[in-house]
Amino acid sequence: MYILAIDTSADETSTAIVNERQIVSNFNFSQVALHQNFGGIYPLAAKREHALKIQPAVDIALKRARLSLDKIDAFAVTFGPGLAPALEIGILKAKELATKYNKPLIPVDHIEGHIYSSFVQNSNGNPQREFSFPLLAFVISGGHTELVLLNDHINYQILGETLDDAAGEALDKASRLLGLGYPGGPIIERLALKGNKDRYPLPLPMQYHSGLDFSYSGLKTAFKRIVDNLSAEEKVKNLPDLCASYQETTINSLIFRLQQTLKKYPVKTLVLGGGVSSNRLLKSRIRSLCNKKGVTVYFPPTTNLSTDNAAMIAVAAYYKFKKGIYLTDPSILDRIPRANLDKYIAPLT
Ligand code: KG4
Ligand code: ZN
Repeated sequence: MYILAIDTSADETSTAIVNERQIVSNFNFSQVALHQNFGGIYPLAAKREHALKIQPAVDIALKRARLSLDKIDAFAVTFGPGLAPALEIGILKAKELATKYNKPLIPVDHIEGHIYSSFVQNSNGNPQREFSFPLLAFVISGGHTELVLLNDHINYQILGETLDDAAGEALDKASRLLGLGYPGGPIIERLALKGNKDRYPLPLPMQYHSGLDFSYSGLKTAFKRIVDNLSAEEKVKNLPDLCASYQETTINSLIFRLQQTLKKYPVKTLVLGGGVSSNRLLKSRIRSLCNKKGVTVYFPPTTNLSTDNAAMIAVAAYYKFKKGIYLTDPSILDRIPRANLDKYIAPLT
């Protein structure tokens, strides 16, 4: 079964075709260069760029798959969460295609895509990973920090989420404060390699807060206070230490909550998703925690499957389709910029 999926929830115009779990093609027009000057995503510029690139992105995914539109069995699109003007462009295109070819339209939540990203396979069917429920998913991206329990396919219980900024957003903001580029996560990771993580002690966010939620606004303020007290030269000279200290506290906060969650919900499998999950230090910490606890852990198989992509949307869509969750009348689909996994499985407005 061929599914063509579209994701335009943020700054990537992504298209992909999968056959069940296997990638046939996976394409991305990145807008990173466009947003670099703003230090974050500028919604109206994102919309304009998506509108220009969506048809070429669909054409390239088809060309690379050596398929024509009439061979596609179903279309899938991200309906939320994300930037409203950006989501709109992908949804319009998916509705247009599903209507024209009279095929089912499968609405997918962006977080749902990140959860399924560890199960995307290449065209040889690798990696071969089995689903085993209950399964814990930890999505750590620029827009989200979420701990989700799955008791079955497409059955979600949110255990914890961020009350303000996402972990990736916190890294992006620190990067901007230090005058570094966007996205901040990989830049901070690189500089931190040469830094002393204990040089600038920072408070561990939410350590006295019961429950499994996250918060990064306090950490951001504490870090800003440190940076504001440095002269311009000190700031430059100590960049690696600043990055290492900030990254360390961000990672500690993620590990702290993960530990508590695994204690409360002793699952056998953990899956990671989202751009931050490609961070090497975080990965090794999670691996050693899971080793100790006897938990099988899966990360997205490649970096381009941890950041935004449409292959993960297509694979999540496949499991939704198998459960009968799809629209036969595409016109009723609308975007839900603040979609919440345990509230909307499909926006049947
Ligand atoms: O999943 P993603 O591509 O988009 C969202 O859905 O938000 O995640 C982007 C986020 C950005 O905040 C970026 O700084 C962060 O992921 N990121 C990283 C790394 N690579 C990307 N953070 C830490 N270490 C990395 N290597
Ligand atoms: Zn994402």
